[in-house]
Amino acid sequence: MDKISKFDGIDYIKSYASKISTMHELIKTLLQDHVCDGDIIIDIGGGPGMGARIIDDLGKKAVVINIEPSTTIYDVPRLSTVEYIPLRMSIKEALDAQMPYTPDCLLMVSSAHEIALCNNAQASENKRIFFQDLNIFIKKNLKPNGTIIIGFPNYYKGATQSEIDRQRKLTESVFGHSHPSNEFFLLEEFSVALGMQPVVHIQSPMNIAPSSSQKTVLMANGAVFNNIEAV
Ligand SMILES: C[S@@+](CC[C@H](N)C(=O)[O-])C[C@H]1O[C@@H](n2cnc3c(N)ncnc32)[C@H](O)[C@@H]1O
Repeated sequence: MDKISKFDGIDYIKSYASKISTMHELIKTLLQDHVCDGDIIIDIGGGPGMGARIIDDLGKKAVVINIEPSTTIYDVPRLSTVEYIPLRMSIKEALDAQMPYTPDCLLMVSSAHEIALCNNAQASENKRIFFQDLNIFIKKNLKPNGTIIIGFPNYYKGATQSEIDRQRKLTESVFGHSHPSNEFFLLEEFSVALGMQPVVHIQSPMNIAPSSSQKTVLMANGAVFNNIEAV
């Protein structure tokens, strides 16, 4: 399957968003504290305007640009306080595009590992290229001393390989695909790539199948990096 079009034509809210609401709740608390009226946010891999929806739910008057290659980008309800600007393209295409505004904040929720996969190499090389592209994007677009808010899944730090294997089976039955641990990002990888520690890091266990008796080892992480400068 072409990784860029993996999410084309799906009912994202029903198939994904409803199952990763823990992640979205976590990100909502960060957006509540770190986005102000008048801010411009670029949501990278925002699916059906997930960032725009959450910021609108918070009643913030913001502009949200969504860089998203799939058709889900247009599945957005009427928003009250957010001006939504869909840019249907991948992050690589966005490196050569002119952004309509200079953002105060970049947002990436559950998209970094999917974006990295599009580099079609081994996991570590995919991540290296991902961070290279992200830093080019930051340098070209983000307002000086801007903010990056990231939501990313990974496995509980103490999880055993057999717990991860069991989790992956469950995840495959829910989403049709799952990720080995090395495809998911660790907080340290973002910190090294951005050259700083986050000002906030919060975590919560993410139960994608509440009816299952299996204990989840999937974690939702939310992190905020302030005063970003491209490295
Ligand atoms: C799991 S979804 C997350 C969607 C949304 N951010 C959320 O909070 O639910 C991952 C998203 O990343 C997008 N994506 C995949 N490859 C991408 C790329 N190269 N550039 C930008 N977005 C990409 C997918 O199309 C998909 O919408």
